[in-house]
Amino acid sequence: MTPAREILLHTVPVDVFDTERIRSDFPALHQAVHGQPLVYLDNAATTQKPLKVIEVLDSYYRNDNANVHRGVHALSERATAAYEAAREKVRKFLNAQSPQELVFVRGTTEAINLVAQSWGRANLRPNDEVVITETEHHSNIVPWQMLCGQTGAKLRVVPAEDNGELSVERYAQILGERTRLVAVSHCSNALGTINPVKQMISLAHETGAVVLVDGAQAVPHLAVDVRDLDCDFYAFSGHKLYGPTGIGVLYAKMALLQDMPPYQGGGEMVKHVSFDHAIYHDPPLRFEAGTPNIAGAIGLGAAIDYVDAVGIEAIGRHEQDLLARATAAMAGMPGLRIIGTAPEKTGILSFVLQNIHAHDVGTILDMQGVAVRVGHHCAIPVMQRYQVPATARASFALYNTREEVDVLVAAVYRAKEVFG
Ligand code: ALA
Repeated sequence: MTPAREILLHTVPVDVFDTERIRSDFPALHQAVHGQPLVYLDNAATTQKPLKVIEVLDSYYRNDNANVHRGVHALSERATAAYEAAREKVRKFLNAQSPQELVFVRGTTEAINLVAQSWGRANLRPNDEVVITETEHHSNIVPWQMLCGQTGAKLRVVPAEDNGELSVERYAQILGERTRLVAVSHCSNALGTINPVKQMISLAHETGAVVLVDGAQAVPHLAVDVRDLDCDFYAFSGHKLYGPTGIGVLYAKMALLQDMPPYQGGGEMVKHVSFDHAIYHDPPLRFEAGTPNIAGAIGLGAAIDYVDAVGIEAIGRHEQDLLARATAAMAGMPGLRIIGTAPEKTGILSFVLQNIHAHDVGTILDMQGVAVRVGHHCAIPVMQRYQVPATARASFALYNTREEVDVLVAAVYRAKEVFG
């Protein structure tokens, strides 16, 4: 059993989880779509925002809006203090050693591109190897392909098992003395699988490779401790964690960050500039060229406060209850195939209905107020692995209810009736 699974099981009982009170914190949930109450089950794409986050953004722009790390005036000092306080909240959330190990970026995609173009270009040589897996999101494939094209390094891919799991044995066979970097998702966005990242990190370190973990689909559901994982890089996005869009975080061990060249040049990331050369700031500012997403970072801090107040373990336990209910109901449905049946999953249920395209399923569900994502989920290799053009994907969050799961199941039956 992986640590992630242990975390999910050692949690509070579902009946103390007050979904009604939680739902009252999310204004967007209280609306009708096509005359039906909205059932929002597209949380793996992006989550709705609690009032606390909305209010913090509103208050920042009403009262404190100024640029950071620049002015001596009161508003700039307030904005800088709030921005850096958000960094400290992220530090606690991930249990990083220092706030200096956390770079604010646009999101997971930018974090991965930053590592590829900064660490990767400085460290990879022809015939070095970058190891990824067959279940990655495009954002954890394409930046490495680009890097391999630039450096002559080679991309190696760990195959996925039939149920969506990764085999540690097969992974270990691919690792070798040429492996310089492993990039793996903590949880698959298309399948929900929770990957054995701690074990994978430890094996990579034995070969001298560094490891980047794409945590976009993990941090909203599991307690993440970067020091316990011992990952070298960890990336996540704010908007999947009830925070604003356009803000995310790259965690990197300080020893790595200190040796990494800047990703982008500009203001904010330099101590001194002449026409001959520039002297860069220390991390993390070296990697935050230009005016950052100040409001986004502060909003992310408020989202972390919200998740902390509810409790990440309680959230994970609640979502497991919803997943179990949905899986039990769907598994018995004739003509329905669940894609991704690993024993350790976050609250993601991807499925296909025989002879009905996922887009048609999505449209029928939408007419009943049920929002799911349909398509390849930015993971075309996953669709190819399981030989489907697309899936419909329901993904659960802390504000979803058992009643909503039942509405989803009824809506899927309706889709079968309409197209069957
Ligand atoms: N990566 C996001 C998803 O899986 C957008 O839907």
